[in-house]
Amino acid sequence: MKTLITGGTVVNASGRSRADVLIDGEQIVALLEPGSTLFGVDLAASVDKVVDATGKYVVPGGIDAHTHMEMPFGGTFAADTFTTGTTAAAWGGTTTIVDFVVQYPDQNVLDQYALWHDKAAGNCAVDYGFHQILSDVQDSSLAAMDELIDEGVTSFKLFMAYKGVFLSDDGQILRAMQKAADNGAMMMMHAENGAVIDVLVQQALAAGNTSPFFHGTTRPWQAEAEATSRAIMLADLTGAPLYVVHVSAKQAVEQIALARDKGQNVFGETCPQYLYLSLEEQLGAVSEQWGDFEGAKWVCSTPLRSKHEGHQHHMWQALRTNDLQLVSTDHCPFCMADQKELGRGDFSKIPNGIGSVEHRMDLMYQGVVTGQISLERWVEITSVTPARMFGMYGRKGVLAPGADADVVVYDPAGHTSIGLGKTHHSNLDYSPWEGFEIDGHVDTVISRGQVLVADDEFVGRVGHGKYVKRDLSQYLV
Ligand code: URP
Ligand code: ZN
Ligand code: ZN
Ligand code: ZN
Repeated sequence: MKTLITGGTVVNASGRSRADVLIDGEQIVALLEPGSTLFGVDLAASVDKVVDATGKYVVPGGIDAHTHMEMPFGGTFAADTFTTGTTAAAWGGTTTIVDFVVQYPDQNVLDQYALWHDKAAGNCAVDYGFHQILSDVQDSSLAAMDELIDEGVTSFKLFMAYKGVFLSDDGQILRAMQKAADNGAMMMMHAENGAVIDVLVQQALAAGNTSPFFHGTTRPWQAEAEATSRAIMLADLTGAPLYVVHVSAKQAVEQIALARDKGQNVFGETCPQYLYLSLEEQLGAVSEQWGDFEGAKWVCSTPLRSKHEGHQHHMWQALRTNDLQLVSTDHCPFCMADQKELGRGDFSKIPNGIGSVEHRMDLMYQGVVTGQISLERWVEITSVTPARMFGMYGRKGVLAPGADADVVVYDPAGHTSIGLGKTHHSNLDYSPWEGFEIDGHVDTVISRGQVLVADDEFVGRVGHGKYVKRDLSQYLV
């Protein structure tokens, strides 16, 4: 099966040009002068399918390097299965996700890894890889890190918060980092000071401050910046590369920037929620339906920050200056009706997480529309860098001969309304992005040569998505 994408502007991290993209089977085979002929024959007439991209951008398929499909968390499971979550991803132009295998204390890391394959295999609409969460760093977990790298799981997430659930103490973090320094794995860190947060939460609840707003005030930026700094110091001590997930505080970015300026292998990710949403407007929201529990829709950690402290502005700036390297979603949706509801009357029991996998490409494209980032930077932070950071570049994250034909045709003249009610494709019973109007529209989505979305219809297949065995990070020498 040969496909030709004609008439569009091809955008990679390094620049843009008018080119036609020729796909044969699962791969891109050539980028051609528009209207090229082959042995005198019009190429468009000799292929099986032509996708007209006139007036549109042709970009590498989005890579969301931080999702939690079916995650067991907060006494329930994240509402999207691998089927619904990857279908939603496809709708939004994301053709690869990297999901987190969860290990709780006393669970065997390799058993959990096998379980995640069972959940995902045959159930995904787009390609998927795995990171591994380590929640109690035992000798067996450290040994498993080597085995997992051979399996293509080259990044490991630790938590400095959620005591008794995920939290690793500094000694455990040190041991895992020593291992990563040795085997080349990327250490990922949920950087929040859990002990400080736990005290603030108990004090808030004792004072009768039980609504979702207080989820934000009890996880202050100091708790994030302190933990980020501590993680950076431990990484420096061991020589391990460090990737700080879901950064929301400008003071945490400052720590990352300082370490990078010194030449340390430290990287940072932020998420759309920290670029657009705030403590006051979302966590503090009140509605007719939910009262002051409305804010539960946006309870995630790290939390949404105060709009009066300049965090959002700083996140955009950091994306421009490369103090932050990429944008993932941390997609971890919980429905209001039966899941967020668990925390009514006690915000600390609200399952943490929001869902954005379908909207990341659109939301970040708004940064191009508003002049926050260039078109090339949009492609870089949503696809190119995730591919490099997590050992997929060349196959993914680029439009070039030999790469997987993961392609999004994006229409800058289109419009996307994230409407009221269920206009999205996630299992979620609301959208954290309800009411957002997007200048731009995902037009056509292709994964390894197969069209998944065209003409506002899903024409892909659940089961098309394959496991991506990843290499070590291409940012490390
Ligand atoms: O609130 C969040 N972020 N939920 C998902 C788990 C995590 O910490 O990434
Ligand atoms: Zn986290
Ligand atoms: Zn997460
Ligand atoms: Zn449409």
